[in-house]
Amino acid sequence: MNDVEAAARAVAAFTERFGGAPEGVWAAPGRVNVIGEHTDYNDGYVLPVALPHTTRAAVARRADGRLAFASLQGDGDVVELAVAELAPGQPSGWAGYPAGVVDGLRERLAGGVSVLVDTDVPVGAGLSSSAALTCSVALALRDLVAPELTRADLVDLARRSENDFVGAPTGILDQSASLLCTAGHALFLDTREKRTEQVPLDMAAAGLELLVVDTGTSHTHADGGYGDRRRECEEAAARLGVPALRDVADVASLAALDDEVLLRRARHIVTENARVLQVVEILRGAGDPREIGPVLVAGHESLRDDFEISTVELDACVAAAVGAGAHGARMVGGGFGGSAVVLVDRDRAPAVADAVRERFDREGFAEPRTFDVVPSAGARRIA
Ligand code: GLA
Repeated sequence: MNDVEAAARAVAAFTERFGGAPEGVWAAPGRVNVIGEHTDYNDGYVLPVALPHTTRAAVARRADGRLAFASLQGDGDVVELAVAELAPGQPSGWAGYPAGVVDGLRERLAGGVSVLVDTDVPVGAGLSSSAALTCSVALALRDLVAPELTRADLVDLARRSENDFVGAPTGILDQSASLLCTAGHALFLDTREKRTEQVPLDMAAAGLELLVVDTGTSHTHADGGYGDRRRECEEAAARLGVPALRDVADVASLAALDDEVLLRRARHIVTENARVLQVVEILRGAGDPREIGPVLVAGHESLRDDFEISTVELDACVAAAVGAGAHGARMVGGGFGGSAVVLVDRDRAPAVADAVRERFDREGFAEPRTFDVVPSAGARRIA
């Protein structure tokens, strides 16, 4: 759906639900990370692209001190509460994400606000549907009540909603991708210095496709594994006496770690940061983007063996894709399910997608969903 159609659909639905037109409609994309996984909360490097898929937020301020959140994807119920009732965990469920953003600006929103959201970002697929949601609302509220905020401020506002309000201990990868990416580029972000560079990434011109394979296996960040990895990384940095694993120069410097698990976790972060720099170097140069393929595979192996966050479905996907002639493939996002990204020649893409599907069928896995990603625009006002 293009922005014009998406805006019209959101305006119509908002008007029907709330009995009046919204003040505007804002769209924010999901993301797929080319390389740089779990590096963001270690002060490291990431290289995401924005998806063509977005979440749209139609928003209007109110005067009665109440909040209303509606979604075209849920069961149709409107989540309602008073601004004064906002507290971490309240409301719970999907409405907690936009509510957390409102909470970050609550002095300016004492009159309340109505929000209707609509999305085509696959939910729970490791493609940042939650950042698309928080960032669409953050940009809306910036335009309506906080014009002095920069996009970098909005990254922080959206992240705090996830970390402090919803209770998901994420880094800034997803929010940065959703707010700072530009069409035709990957975003090279140094998460410590907050330095960004738009790296041109024109897959079509190179005869390539960036294929996303959504395995359909769920993942969630608020519980379990993600938080464990984060704590392990902090513990490794503390034992090494550095502020963050970003500060470890090379794998040899990890010899001081006598805990084998912490060593492997830290080794993933150190090698992954190096892989981001390597991929950026290749893409900045005049070389062939196909050269990043083996780096992606090395990234997958590191996430599988050292970081231990892959799944049998993701491993099968990478093996099948590379076996069928893809240049590279890796799992993306927080792990424990979700999606993989595959770099493949355009004319090989259908055969590679078929090979993955056949492999899943043989293994008895659910049929995966595949789509091609054109690096797309970051968050914007669409009506
Ligand atoms: C999730 C988190 C991000 C990042 C990735 C892993 O998407 O929200 O902050 O840590 O996992 O790279």
